[in-house]
Amino acid sequence: MSKRILITGGAGYIGSVLARQLLEKGYTVRVLDRLMYGGEPIIDMFNYPNFEFVKGDVRVREDVEQALEGVDCVAHLAAIVGDPACAKDPELSRSTNFEGSKLLYEVANEKGATRFVFASTCSNYGKMDDPDAFVKEDSKLAPVSLYAETKVATEQFLLGQPKDNTTKPTCLRFSTVYGLSLRPRFDLTVNEFTKELALGRELVVFGEQFWRPYCHVYDLARSVVTVIEADADKVAFDVFNVGDTSENYQKQMIVDEIKKQIPDANVKYVSKNEDPRDYRVNFDKIRERLGFELMFDVPKGIAQIKEVLEAGFITNPDDNKYKNV
Ligand SMILES: NC(=O)c1ccc[n+]([C@@H]2O[C@H](COP(=O)([O-])OP(=O)(O)OC[C@H]3O[C@@H](n4cnc5c(N)ncnc54)[C@H](O)[C@@H]3O)[C@@H](O)[C@H]2O)c1
Repeated sequence: MSKRILITGGAGYIGSVLARQLLEKGYTVRVLDRLMYGGEPIIDMFNYPNFEFVKGDVRVREDVEQALEGVDCVAHLAAIVGDPACAKDPELSRSTNFEGSKLLYEVANEKGATRFVFASTCSNYGKMDDPDAFVKEDSKLAPVSLYAETKVATEQFLLGQPKDNTTKPTCLRFSTVYGLSLRPRFDLTVNEFTKELALGRELVVFGEQFWRPYCHVYDLARSVVTVIEADADKVAFDVFNVGDTSENYQKQMIVDEIKKQIPDANVKYVSKNEDPRDYRVNFDKIRERLGFELMFDVPKGIAQIKEVLEAGFITNPDDNKYKNV
């Protein structure tokens, strides 16, 4: 019998990539998702004998109990994702991102799952005190949005659980994602900038000097697999930034990378002196402890998006379904 992994939010941008990676490795994959953006990204998975689907909500005990039956490991990705989406419906965001996560962990522990990998975010770091420094896992957290607040609160809940609980949590602080998935998102910096410029439009960039780390969706999914497969004593009750120190970029640097591939790109900069999210992140821990290295970098991601858009893979990339708000 292969291990059964539950992915919450498995129909989403990252979850659908993770589900494929785990199926290809021979795991039994169960997705729990309320299909807020539809289920197209995983529709073909019904053809895999090891795929199971529960339509449900992480906030509903009955759904969570059904989804956790016979599960070895949980990859918890379901959330209201991003600052704008959370600001739009704060109550839904709190109940999903925090209350739903608590319920899921508690039932996972009751039902005997051994691992719980939580998709957190580097947004938890907020603005760096020292603009020349790189934040690490033990740096001060300074969430500046409801989205990040719900992620910080969930991390604190998970890491505060008794160490002898059956279910050992690990928090992964993802970089800002880019790249292709069966649920493409064009509301993320690299994807959006590349889309606008590949389609020959003028791109307006606000606050080009601010730093952020970026990571390809395929690599983020791989990091979850890496944690699931690592010895428990290397990951239990711990936090890892996911990305690579060389993949911190200012927005201007991303535009410069795009210009190498689209030389006639038309970009206008609008100065902005303050951005509450300005951080550079150090990723030594995940590399040194788990041997995790990226397969992609931002220029490769730009090339992929440019190619699929220019070839006409996506008929209407401006469709609202490619955004979270
Ligand atoms: N995209 C990023 O840049 C980024 C960065 C850091 C962390 N993360 C985290 O990674 C995870 C996945 O992000 P994504 O970009 O794939 O998001 P996404 O919005 O594409 O997918 C989220 C999925 O969760 C499902 N969902 C939402 N509420 C639910 C609920 N109550 N019950 C069951 N399912 C529910 C949605 O239907 C959707 O399929 C999230 O936890 C997010 O916070 C994302």
